[in-house]
Amino acid sequence: MEIIIMENAAEIGEAAGKLFVKAIQKKPDIVLGLATGASPVPTYQYISAACQKGEVSLRDVRTYNLDEYVGLPRNDKNSYYTFMHEQLFNHTDIQEQNVHFLDGNATDVEAECRSYDDQLDKAHIDIQLLGIGRNGHIGFNEPSICFTKGAFKVKLTESTIDANSKYFDENPMPHYALTMGIGSIMKAKKIVMIATGSAKADAMAAMIKGEVTPVCPASILQFHPNVVVYLDKAAAKLL
Ligand code: F6R
Repeated sequence: MEIIIMENAAEIGEAAGKLFVKAIQKKPDIVLGLATGASPVPTYQYISAACQKGEVSLRDVRTYNLDEYVGLPRNDKNSYYTFMHEQLFNHTDIQEQNVHFLDGNATDVEAECRSYDDQLDKAHIDIQLLGIGRNGHIGFNEPSICFTKGAFKVKLTESTIDANSKYFDENPMPHYALTMGIGSIMKAKKIVMIATGSAKADAMAAMIKGEVTPVCPASILQFHPNVVVYLDKAAAKLL
């Protein structure tokens, strides 16, 4: 695991953004696994700006997002579908047919999850971008008694609801989501994680220095051969 400690979120956004831009320039039809939340926003801003300046094209890039809330209309302002379009896709030349999400409104959840797993198996993610929950979750794989393999419907923990409910001003935050499984995340050829702020310090210490346990789902990344972790000083304070 390569650990890179930087001054702040803006510096991380630039460094991680450059990593993605270079990777896309090298392989224009790269397959990316993408995360939502606050952590990747500066990275998405960097990639968007590079695309606007004509330095990189996302025309042939394919993306698979980690998770989606259950029960929100696709175009709801709080859906992760909307988030990705507002933060990245709308500022690039990516083709809509190349962006993939779990359908949080699927009537047959099991079929939806198996179909996403099949797509991921065929796509072979080149780089998976991750944030981390305060409780060590990746995607929405919450602390548990076992590591998950494929996509599934998860009941979000109090910690996650507490962290994300600030984004829901009108309607209550959904308590369920569909998420990519740990097994699929681990199949990515490279993983880039971003963690900023002191609220992530415990999770970073558990992920990097703790035992590998589903109680801290991110700790499984110790077993992945190609992980880069960008964190700021506040998130790194317990390392
Ligand atoms: C969202 C996701 C989550 C977030 C995590 C951190 O797609 O995968 O694991 O990365 O909850 O969220 P922020 O970055 O908002 O602290």
